[in-house]
Amino acid sequence: MTRTVLIVGCGDIGSRVARLELAAGHGVSGLARSAATAARLEEQGVATVGGDLDKPDSLAGLKSAWRTLYYFAPPPGSGVDDPRLAALLEGLPDGSLPERVIYISTSGVYGDCGGAWVREDRPPHPQSARSQRRWAAEQYLETWSRCHGVAAVILRVPGIYSPGRLPLERIRSGIPVVCEEESPYSNRIHADDLAEACFAAAWRGAADGVYNVSDGHPTTMTDYFYRVADRSGLPRPAAISLEEARRILSPAMLSFLEESKRLDNGRMTRELQPKLLYPDLESGLAACFNA
Ligand SMILES: NC(=O)c1ccc[n+]([C@@H]2O[C@H](COP(=O)([O-])OP(=O)(O)OC[C@H]3O[C@@H](n4cnc5c(N)ncnc54)[C@H](OP(=O)(O)O)[C@@H]3O)[C@@H](O)[C@H]2O)c1
Repeated sequence: MTRTVLIVGCGDIGSRVARLELAAGHGVSGLARSAATAARLEEQGVATVGGDLDKPDSLAGLKSAWRTLYYFAPPPGSGVDDPRLAALLEGLPDGSLPERVIYISTSGVYGDCGGAWVREDRPPHPQSARSQRRWAAEQYLETWSRCHGVAAVILRVPGIYSPGRLPLERIRSGIPVVCEEESPYSNRIHADDLAEACFAAAWRGAADGVYNVSDGHPTTMTDYFYRVADRSGLPRPAAISLEEARRILSPAMLSFLEESKRLDNGRMTRELQPKLLYPDLESGLAACFNA
């Protein structure tokens, strides 16, 4: 099989992975559900296949045999599972399945871990509906890959940041943060390093199974907001107690505050050996603000 890849969900991270694949001389195709996405991908040198994961019949154009399938589209915003992933996998032509699937999931599948260090063998306990859909998607992919003899790499990813993905609006809007003593741990990965980890999962060694992908240096969520505020010259948000936060913050914001964990990225560093450019927030934020 030639060294070609298909990227499904070719947005921010997919485009970064496409750049790495093209630089390696591989053929890259991307699923595009709109003319605007197709034009953006083609400008990047990515061949496009039309299709919308919410319309299974539209996926009939998936005829080629790609060596690697990167699947980065999110599940729908409601429901208990991920019909998009199911539509894509069932739409792949029999007899020309990929050798490996790289799937971006979320570290939210672990749920709250009380601030403990978390390895991949910790039983998932997703709390939010968002994370429950992800966990359902992971299980679907694992069953499908076992039945079809395809390697499946599941990357459990925490907060992604980059110059264009910083909580500047939130800080400007004056929404308070939880005081440091009560703030949950949060974990992060720079978008370029996530793309590098995806690429490494596709090509380095015999990657298979679940990997935590993070910079390995979790700090509290409040520390993150303070560092971004300090770097951007904005005032630090006011700090409130967790009890008060439960009274005034939106359910969506609270869902992040109610989960605390520290991701152990040892398996990723040992087996995938991605060359992380930003192994902690200090280096990653410095690059964001000097970009
Ligand atoms: N935000 C975080 O910190 C975080 C943390 C963990 C995991 N993740 C996950 O990481 C993955 C990659 O993130 P990202 O930033 O690259 O996301 P993104 O920029 O939003 O890209 C997602 C892509 O999926 C495509 N897509 C969505 N629905 C589709 C459909 N029905 N049919 C075809 N394509 C569809 C979108 O197509 P269009 O271009 O046409 O819109 C878009 O290109 C996502 O699954 C995200 O949920 C994010």
